[in-house]
Order: sequence, then structure tokens, then C-alpha cells
Amino acid sequence: MNETQSYLTEVHCLECGHSMPYRPDLDFCEACNAAWLDARYDYSRAADLWRPGLPGRHVSLWRYRALLPPVPEEFRISMGEGNTPLIRATKLQASLGHPAIFIKDERQMPTNSFKDRQGSLAISVLKQRGVTECVLASTGNAAVAYAAYAACADIKLWVFLTSLVPPEKMREVALYGAEVVKVTGTYDEAKKIAANFARRRNLHLDRGAKAIAGKESMKTLAFEIAEQLARAQGNHTPWQAPDWYIQAVSGGIGPLGVLKGFTELYEMGLTDRIPKIGVIQTSGCAPMVRAMALDREQAEPVIPQSRIVVLSTGDPGLAYTLLYRAQKENGGAMLSVTDEEAFAAMRWLARTQGISVEPATAVAFAGLRKLVAGGTIRNEETVVVNCSGHTFPVEKHIMDDQMVLDMKLSQQAKSKEQGLTEALRRLEEQITSVLVIDDNPLDRLLVKRVLQSNKPYRVFEAGSGPEGLEVAETRAPDLIILDLNMPDMDGFTVLDRLKANPDTAAIPVVVVSAKELTPNEKSRLTGKIASIWQKGAFSANTLLQHLVKTIQTGTPSTAGSDVINALQTLDRSIHKIVIVDDTPADIRRLRRFLEARRKYQIFEANSGQEGLAVIKAQRPDLIILDLSMPDMDGLEVLDTIKLEPDLRRIPIIILSGEELSAEQWQRLDDETTDILPKEEITPETLASHVDRKLS
Ligand SMILES: Cc1ncc(COP(=O)(O)O)c(C=O)c1O
Ligand SMILES: [Zn+2]
Repeated sequence: MNETQSYLTEVHCLECGHSMPYRPDLDFCEACNAAWLDARYDYSRAADLWRPGLPGRHVSLWRYRALLPPVPEEFRISMGEGNTPLIRATKLQASLGHPAIFIKDERQMPTNSFKDRQGSLAISVLKQRGVTECVLASTGNAAVAYAAYAACADIKLWVFLTSLVPPEKMREVALYGAEVVKVTGTYDEAKKIAANFARRRNLHLDRGAKAIAGKESMKTLAFEIAEQLARAQGNHTPWQAPDWYIQAVSGGIGPLGVLKGFTELYEMGLTDRIPKIGVIQTSGCAPMVRAMALDREQAEPVIPQSRIVVLSTGDPGLAYTLLYRAQKENGGAMLSVTDEEAFAAMRWLARTQGISVEPATAVAFAGLRKLVAGGTIRNEETVVVNCSGHTFPVEKHIMDDQMVLDMKLSQQAKSKEQGLTEALRRLEEQITSVLVIDDNPLDRLLVKRVLQSNKPYRVFEAGSGPEGLEVAETRAPDLIILDLNMPDMDGFTVLDRLKANPDTAAIPVVVVSAKELTPNEKSRLTGKIASIWQKGAFSANTLLQHLVKTIQTGTPSTAGSDVINALQTLDRSIHKIVIVDDTPADIRRLRRFLEARRKYQIFEANSGQEGLAVIKAQRPDLIILDLSMPDMDGLEVLDTIKLEPDLRRIPIIILSGEELSAEQWQRLDDETTDILPKEEITPETLASHVDRKLS
């Protein structure tokens, strides 16, 4: 077999039955647009290949590539996932009086849970598709797994978690560089929000068990178990399926994928049975168990009320129906245990077998205990339990909780939909981020308050230059506010390093400092910063306006009377120009043309009224004035200026959108004014008018 060869032949829609060719970017059924897709393979060829057993040392999931979606080697993101031990649980066997209990020890995966299988395959397929940004909702472990693999694949990951997920787990996700959005709401709500967010920003949304990669990855659990069990039992055949596979279940991707893997082995004639699946849920979130008890083909969603957040899918959808049908065919059990039973099982497992697990896995062992005690699992039946573990506890001093975005669903919203929309809007604002680098915590707090008084911007704080550089690089904020006087590395050095690093060079920097600048220091800042502000010498509101504009445009705009402000002001050779125009696009264009010449300090105003205020405050060397504006048109602005003795001599360029009337011509006929029709504005005409007026 060729290294990359997969025997995938077609994709089958689980909703409408339509068959279609496989593509890595196939997310929906071509016939009915459903997301529940399933890959089908050439099983007879695969059987020929696998019958004698797979040769060679086991290295990763890709050992099973014949029955996985095709991913060329260069796109595979692999960290040695898979090939976890199948441990015979002799002590549990003795404790339960059952002779054949095996633990599939998925704690020994790169991020300690079976979700690494999904992380590896799904992220590899995304890499193959050229996706660079992805959104995921998770109850915790899938998030950690995806975050690790996404980091390795240079894919930016947005993770939506419910606020009940332990902070250590959130920090671990953040440690891998993923953006964590904490949603105060249920997991099912977090899923909706994630989907909405992805749609709005046109990002790829991971569809978990519905997507091909998700389910296919979980088959590898079945394949490994079958190989390992045959070896453990000294079989003469290379493949052996157990009688039971037991797993704690939330969304159901694990049991669905494992079941599919075992079914394929059975249908290829490699094994003699399809295991019964033991689906174990916590009683606080057991929609599957409940529906099964009522013998329903569909599960009613529930609102989770369990401390075991990893298992908190309240609405399992089609995953339940598929598991229900499988149980009708092959037998199995769906069973719930209380949180307390799970915690007790956790202690029992650790004490008895020396295996410590997280609560979600303890649920599976509590279920095992019940199924054996109740005689559902018979003595001659072999059992395999999926065992995932603790993830690495990232303490607060390693990864600050400021990395987590908080998203609270309003309790006041008129409808659920409105609540979601509102929360999403706030999230978009929070995504705008500002980094404040200042060694004085009170000053950082002040700037943060000023910013957040306007919008819930996300503000990162760094107490030193080196820390600031690190956050700037990892978080790529929209704006940096920098102090100059800092003990270990001063602001000048920080600025030089920011500008020397291609990842941070384009981020606008605003300096807020108490320092009096020497001419030499001034020149070190020139051209590198958006503006400089003297601590204590400006009003919060003025700073805020300036920052907001800088964030929006990426370039600074200074307005208002008490601005200490842009460095250029200190330099008399630079002319001040005020642009008054109600069309932002026109202002941007003028600003661009003027800034290309680097000789001006530009102020802008979006209305006649605002224009007058800025002109009075700045006393500019030149005014560029739009003639038609709604509140107070250019002629009125002009008349007012002419009445002020110390403003009347400021040269003015009038921008007109239309032909002027004779009366307008007359009013404008003045040596200080110049008329430039808007359609004639080019960098050259503008420059020649400006030069003439300023000379
Ligand atoms: C340790 C553990 N067990 C069980 C589950 C439930 O998995 P599934 O989504 O396959 O139902 C999870 C899900 O994250 C998990 O992390
Ligand atoms: Zn379909």
C-alpha cells in the first residue's frame, strides 16, 4: 500500500441517504444540506490488507490510514497519539469478581484524553484544506486536544466553553494560544453561540460527531483495542473484539466512532462480534438514558445539572438515535450514575488499581461497577473501559485568567435569540484588544478603566517591558499603550523591539508617560508612535476619543482642547491641518494623501460644529472644509471663522461636490480660500493646493 493510501470510496448522508464523493472540505450533504456525514470505504480491499494483521511497530493513528480519510503525509499533525496501553485491570477484576476487565488507558495521550484522536485527525484535515482559523464548542477535553494540535498546525482556534469548565482547563486551552470564550450558559447554548460567531466571521466551525473526521478518528480506538486484545488473549487471529465497550457519554462521538470501527472489522470478517456499548451518563445530564428507558428513538434535551461538566451535553440529537438503533441490533446498556457514585468510583479506582482519572471517566467506572453487580455484564464477557485522565493543571501564575473572554448571556433579554445576539455583539467588542505596558499598576488600571468606560474592550496588562513584548507577540493586540519609564527595560527599547519584530511592527503604539523628553529621545520616538500623552495632563475623555479613533483607523487622530499630544506639535516646522468633512471615506482619502508627505499633523472633524471646536482649539495652519454637510454647511462654518479675529486669516481649501451657484462663488471669493472640486482630488492636486495655501 502506498504511504498515503486511504480506501475511502464515498460519503453517505446519515439524514437522507444520499451518496457523494469525498472532499476534505465537504461539510454538508450535497442533496439535503445536513451535516451528519459518514465515510464509506472499499472494505473488501481493506479486509485483504488487514486480514493477516498490520505489520510493523505501531507509531500513530495513521497505522489505520486505509480506513481513514486520505490526508497526505505533509498535512498530518501527529504527536504520537494513539497506541495507548490496554491494561488488564487485575485488581478491579478481583474487586468486582469478574475475570476479564481491560482499561484502555487514554490518559497516556498528548493531552491525556481520547479526544486527541479527534484533535489529530480533524486538525490535519483542516491543514489539508488550508483552513487557518477554526471555531469549536467543547465541554473541556476536546478543547484542550484541539488547542494543542491547532498550535502545532498554526491554526488559530476559538474555543467556546461554558463557565462551569474548571479554570485550570480554560488556562490550559489558553496556554496553547487558543482564544477562550467563557459562556455563562449551558453547553448547548455555547454551541449555538460558537456556530453564530463562526457564521458571522466566516470561520470554519468544527461539527464534532457530525463531521467525517470526528467519527473516523474514534474508530482507531476500536482498531487498537481489537489488535491489543487479540495479543493479550494469545489469540491465533490478529483481531479480537471485546463483548463490551464502556464509556462515559456526553455528545456521543466516542461510542459512535468506536461502534463504527468495530462494525467495520466485523463486516470485513476480521472479528466475530460487535461489542455491546455501555453508555454511561451522569444522572444530572442523562437525556440518552432517559429516552432509552422510555424506548424512544429520539432524546428530549435536558438542562444539565451535574458537577461533571465534561459530560454536559443536554441535547444529543441524532447521536442518540444512532446509538439507540445500534443497541436494538447488538444489545448494550444505557445507564446513569450520580455524581457522588462517580466520585466514589474515582477513589475506588485510584486506591485499588493505582489509576487516577478525572470525574468524567469515573462515571464510566461507576457504570461498570453497576453493570457487573447487576449481572448485565456476564462473567464470561470481556469488557474494555475507556479511561481518560486529568489534564495538566495550569496554575494561575503560569497563565493568567485575563486570557479568558467572558460572555454573559443577559437574563433581561426579551427572547433567547435576542440574548444571544446581544452577547455576540458584546463579544465582537471584547475581541478588540489593547495592551497596556506600564510598571505602575494604578496607571494600568486607570487606562483600563478609561477604555472600558467606552466599550468592553479586552485589555491585557503587562507590568514590564519583556512581559509586554511577550503579550504583544502572542496576542497581537489592536493597540499598545506604552509607558516610557520602566525599571528593567524602558519604553524606548520596548518600542524598538516592537517595531523590529514583523509580528508586532504594525500595531499602533500610543505613549502615555510622565517623562520630559530630550530632543534625542524625541527623535527615537518619531515615526514609530501614534502619539504621546503626558501623564496627568489630559482628560480621560480626550484620551479615550483618541484611543478609540486609533483603534478604528489604525492611525491616530487628535482632537480636543486639552491634548498634550502628538509629538509633532512640539516641532514647529510641522503644519497643522484640520479636515472638516462628514464623509469618513473622504477624510480617510485626504489623510492618506497628506500623510504620504509626512509633513503635517492632521486633525479631523465630522461635522461643521465639531470642525469649529477643533479649529478653535488647534488654531491650525490650514483648514480643509467640505461644503455640503448636514448640520452646518461649509459656508456657515466659513462665516463663523471670518467673525473671529484670530482665525479669519487661516487659509482654507473648500471641497465642493457639485457646481457652485453664482451666489456661492461670491461668498467664497476671498484670498484666503481656494476651491477644489471633490472629483479633482488626487495626491498631486491636493499637494499643490496645500503648498500654495501654506506658502
Ligand atoms: C474523559 C471523557 N469521557 C467522556 C466524554 C464524553 O465523550 P463523547 O463526546 O464521546 O460523548 C468526554 C468528552 O469530552 C471526556 O472527555
Ligand atoms: Zn442528505
